[in-house]
Amino acid sequence: MSIIRVHDKDFKPYISAEAIHEKIGGMAEQMNKDYADKNPLFIPILNGSFMFAADLFKAITIEAEINFIKLASYKGTKSSGQVITAIGLDTDLIGRHIVIVEDIVDTGKTLSEFLPQLQHQQPASLKIAALLHKPEATVYPISVDYLGFSVPNKFLLGYGLDYDGLGRNIPSIYQLVE
Ligand code: IMP
Ligand code: MG
Repeated sequence: MSIIRVHDKDFKPYISAEAIHEKIGGMAEQMNKDYADKNPLFIPILNGSFMFAADLFKAITIEAEINFIKLASYKGTKSSGQVITAIGLDTDLIGRHIVIVEDIVDTGKTLSEFLPQLQHQQPASLKIAALLHKPEATVYPISVDYLGFSVPNKFLLGYGLDYDGLGRNIPSIYQLVE
């Protein structure tokens, strides 16, 4: 593997597809135990989480449902901080066990604005599953209940994560070369 160029920036290999899948297997194994007989509702946040959500959900072997939603827009290499209301949440959340599925928790703004909206709908429980977390970037503290990788505050690309629309289809994760 080597350096790739997307738009005007260079990215180097950071987390391999194999390491990602191994990690997701472990996360799913824990969830299969924690949510057995609870029919959890997974709510992945588009667009970034689509690849993680698909691989995670394939490894969920208990009874479970999934409802993708769209929330925020993210442009360039910094969090836009613009959070839009949930689009496509057509399932009743009262009494449900909810697992929010995020590609990455960066500043925490997206979730800190969205979680209260969900709490308002009185779910039985509300947990966060994130493939990646940048603790150093935290502005709004969020507790990630199921975490894949804790990463430094550097821009990442691939496996659903984009840089100005490109790179989501890369099966592994790359890091910006600074
Ligand atoms: P937050 O609201 O700052 O936590 O940002 C969350 C969203 O920003 C994620 O769901 C991603 O879509 C996007 N994001 C944060 N960091 C990165 C990155 O390193 N690469 C690509 N997208 C990112
Ligand atoms: Mg996202």
